[in-house]
Amino acid sequence: MPLIDLTLLRQALGPMAGRFDVDAVDSCDSTNARLLERAAAGAPSGSVLVADRQSAGRGRRGRPWVSSPEDSLTFSLLWRWSADPARLAGLSLAVGLALARALESLGARGLGLKWPNDLLFRGAEGDAKLAGILVELAADRRGMQVVIGIGLNLRAPQVSEQIVAGLADCCPALPERHQLLAALLTELAQTLELFSREGFTPLRPAWQARHLWQDQAVCLLEAGQLLAQGLCRGVDAEGALLLETAAGQQRFLAGDLSLRPGGLP
Ligand code: BTN
Repeated sequence: MPLIDLTLLRQALGPMAGRFDVDAVDSCDSTNARLLERAAAGAPSGSVLVADRQSAGRGRRGRPWVSSPEDSLTFSLLWRWSADPARLAGLSLAVGLALARALESLGARGLGLKWPNDLLFRGAEGDAKLAGILVELAADRRGMQVVIGIGLNLRAPQVSEQIVAGLADCCPALPERHQLLAALLTELAQTLELFSREGFTPLRPAWQARHLWQDQAVCLLEAGQLLAQGLCRGVDAEGALLLETAAGQQRFLAGDLSLRPGGLP
């Protein structure tokens, strides 16, 4: 039996239940991979796949995503997009913001966002990764299929290359699993609807308010190569990263950001 009971989830979703078509499984290779397959076969917008265990969980940039069933929540949501694909810029930032807001509504504190879409917890040991987001796109004759994969740590993994946190570190008590998933799906649906109508612009102030590395010295890397370094000025209305470099302010659409130890030379 999967940890998510669909009847309990429907109750927790209340009036939002009709917006989602949820499937819960004990295990699969990757909820993103399975949902992309279902999308190609015609699954509707609002389809959700939640798995206790993934044998080939995917992270950003081809990295694996490893999680343990009791200590994490892993799911993917399919969102169909019929507008111009160019307007999808900023979507992954909107998703990060939706997660932060949903968790804050359940009592989480100390959350922050890192460009483009990491949800972090500012703890005693520094900024620790709480959740990962992987947005994958495909297209069919109806438009774009947007699969939004979320891996949320409930308790911090024991072994990790990164500094990691769990929701238990940010909340006085861990929320009940069905309430948690319902809150995340509800906030995602509301945020995605606003994003569909108006793009990232109306979400930008709330994203900026949670931006953890504002005005910090950072390096931007792409495939291990240094692309740029400078002071992090947050994001523009399209979700592009703004860096104050020696050559002036520049905007970037991709890359991996890290804090520059010791500031700028
Ligand atoms: C990251 O590298 O930060 C993104 C990790 C995203 C992991 C989630 S878990 C649910 C969904 N299914 C996957 O295979 N990956 C995403």
